[in-house]
Amino acid sequence: MPSIEKICVLGAGNMGHQIALSAALAGYQVKCMDVDAKTLDNAKNFVEKYLPERVAKGKLDEESANMARTGLSFTEDLKIAAGDADFVIEAVLEKLDLKRKIFLELDKICQAHTILTTNSSYIVSSKIADITGRPGKICNMHFFNPALVMKLVEVVKGPHSSDETIQVTMEVAKKMGKTPVLLNKEIYGFLVNRILTAIRNEALFLYDMDIASFADIDTAVENALGHPMGPFKLLDLTGIDLNYHTNMERYRETQDPVYKPSPIIIEKYIIKEWGRKTGKGFYDYAGK
Ligand code: 3HC
Repeated sequence: MPSIEKICVLGAGNMGHQIALSAALAGYQVKCMDVDAKTLDNAKNFVEKYLPERVAKGKLDEESANMARTGLSFTEDLKIAAGDADFVIEAVLEKLDLKRKIFLELDKICQAHTILTTNSSYIVSSKIADITGRPGKICNMHFFNPALVMKLVEVVKGPHSSDETIQVTMEVAKKMGKTPVLLNKEIYGFLVNRILTAIRNEALFLYDMDIASFADIDTAVENALGHPMGPFKLLDLTGIDLNYHTNMERYRETQDPVYKPSPIIIEKYIIKEWGRKTGKGFYDYAGK
């Protein structure tokens, strides 16, 4: 089995920067790449603030914080980020065309042994693997938000993924302190998002029908079902833009109206109330 030392994370957004930091905290050499300078700056600032805060809180020792700080770098250059990586985790926007373009590039840039994974929430890797000359070295590796906190990682075996790729991916997740679960077959939404979508769609239906306020629906789910966050707080955390894009992508693909984003999601997407990342979603985060 190839030994994994260098990891490249593509995308420094909501998920990417926390995946990159989780890997650096586990002792990997990590390069995190994004095309957007502001997103990279935000990611760097997050790391600079997060590590000393964890040390001050007694959750992390100084030595581990320094190891993560020195082991993690940021770049706008794909060749620098991926050229010497043993393992790549792609966490860019949920757009199939974009992912295919990136994997085509990665296949050219990366070493022959490099495993390429996608953190996509919904796009199965068989929709991407065929564009590369290394389909056996490709699979889904799906983290949850916030990636530094949530333990689960879904590893999805595509028909093209080799057993070795799956085994290495499971091992990388474990070394990152995560709890990986293996999906033997590809399915849209994997395990968690299928369950979450059923809950979320019902919550949006109840809200759109004016049965209750979004806050009361959250209160109901938190206090009756024991979920740490109701569906609207969770939408704000994971990003209303992400929900809009994934649903639109699936709607375009299937023409099934069940995937059409709900009216309130479309409205919030248009006015850029995307949740915590824009300071307002269903809830207001100004000054928080
Ligand atoms: N980034 C990093 N760490 C965070 C964080 C963030 N955004 N938010 C909270 N934390 C950490 C805190 O530092 C704290 O760490 P500590 O206990 O080690 O000191 C811990 O999480 C608890 O934080 P708080 O006490 O501030 O707040 P809560 O107890 O309310 O926990 C939460 C916050 C962990 C986000 C919790 O509310 C939760 O588990 N919510 C549900 C999250 C969830 O369901 N995620 C899955 C989303 S679905 C998804 O990701 C699918 C994908 O495809 C999009």
